[in-house]
Amino acid sequence: MNLTEEHKINQDWREVANEVEKASKRISGVVSKTEFEHNYFLSEKFNAQIYLKREDQQIVRSFKIRGAYNKMSQLSEEEKQRGVVCSSAGNHAQGFALACFKLQIRGIIYMPSPTPTQKINKVKKFGQQFVEVRLVGDTYDDAYDQAYKECQNINAVFIHPFNDLEVIAGQGTVASEMIEEHEDLDYVLIAVGGGGLLSGVSAYFKIKSPRTKIIAVESKGAPSLYESLRVGEPAMLSEIDTFADGIAVKHMGALCFDLCKNAVDQSLLVEEGKICSTILELYNEQAIVVEPAGAVSIAALEQLRDIEGKKIGVIVCGGNNDINRTQEIKERALLYEGKKHYFLIRFPQRAGALREFLETLGPKDDITHFEYTKKTNRTSGPALVGLELNQAGDFEALVQRFSTSGINYQHLNNNPMLFEMLV
Ligand SMILES: Cc1ncc(COP(=O)(O)O)c(C=O)c1O
Repeated sequence: MNLTEEHKINQDWREVANEVEKASKRISGVVSKTEFEHNYFLSEKFNAQIYLKREDQQIVRSFKIRGAYNKMSQLSEEEKQRGVVCSSAGNHAQGFALACFKLQIRGIIYMPSPTPTQKINKVKKFGQQFVEVRLVGDTYDDAYDQAYKECQNINAVFIHPFNDLEVIAGQGTVASEMIEEHEDLDYVLIAVGGGGLLSGVSAYFKIKSPRTKIIAVESKGAPSLYESLRVGEPAMLSEIDTFADGIAVKHMGALCFDLCKNAVDQSLLVEEGKICSTILELYNEQAIVVEPAGAVSIAALEQLRDIEGKKIGVIVCGGNNDINRTQEIKERALLYEGKKHYFLIRFPQRAGALREFLETLGPKDDITHFEYTKKTNRTSGPALVGLELNQAGDFEALVQRFSTSGINYQHLNNNPMLFEMLV
């Protein structure tokens, strides 16, 4: 990087930081100044000082109201009359809807069809008579395409969820509140979807607390920043896993990439199963309810090199977890932790074969799934069997007993097609 480039980057960060300070004033009274609290459990676990910025405690249960309100409160009267349109995987929609209601602006919201019902209902509740929800396509990117087209057709104002300076500045107010309370953080961990939160927060830290290391975190199935950093420009991912729906974006914002590409010290990816274990752990140990995107940064803590004794800020960016997803989250967590296993067992078609199989199971192994249809003119028939083990370490002994007893089995956990069918 030459000096002129470096100068430009610093200028860009400075401009964002200035906008963040103006945004802080604009949003006060509408957006909550959430707690940035010391977390005993995580601090003990990692032998570090870990602080959680609780954006799950916003009225809309994510930081997204910050950017949406900052942007929309600056529209001219004429723009307000034309109305606003947005696309969202869910949380931007809630921020947008509440901003529509507070500012009395009419808005249309495009969301991907698989958006959890809980999020759709809340959007309608926040926006009341001011908003209309339209469900289209499978992913955020599909919703974005349709929203953008419709916005041009009706000459409304598009409120981008991330690729907009005023939205970025609004999200950056998370950082100004963090620094206000603790200016000596060693690391800050930030979840990344399109990159708006990362851009605002990292630019502000670069100007106000340059020694703080910026750790960007994504789910393994939707690594848009990770890939973009690898290729040096905003990358287009062909396939993504939408499990962590708040951060499942195929293509990060170009403006966001420009702002954060030199700000990120480390870009981490977290397996979806690990995100699930973290969601359950936070709920069971601390009664904190987070959605997958809200858990991803906490889930990444164990990947941090050199964590001991450090002072770390983690943004818990969203708590909109749909209760209907609990079964899926539990299943993925058990698979990740090595406690759940699926097998195809080829049973000889004779009396007593099932009993022999049952005798190979340990006293605490639990059959959670069994699918078998007797085939009349064959000597053996396959059964699909799911087993939950008391601890991951029981697996080796189990398959050892299968082998010793001559059980004909195939372990299916690493078969992605079957995994998708079952989970
Ligand atoms: C809970 C949550 N976390 C993180 C993000 C990612 O934000 P950004 O798109 O600004 O990267 C989102 C985006 O909607 C979100 O809802």
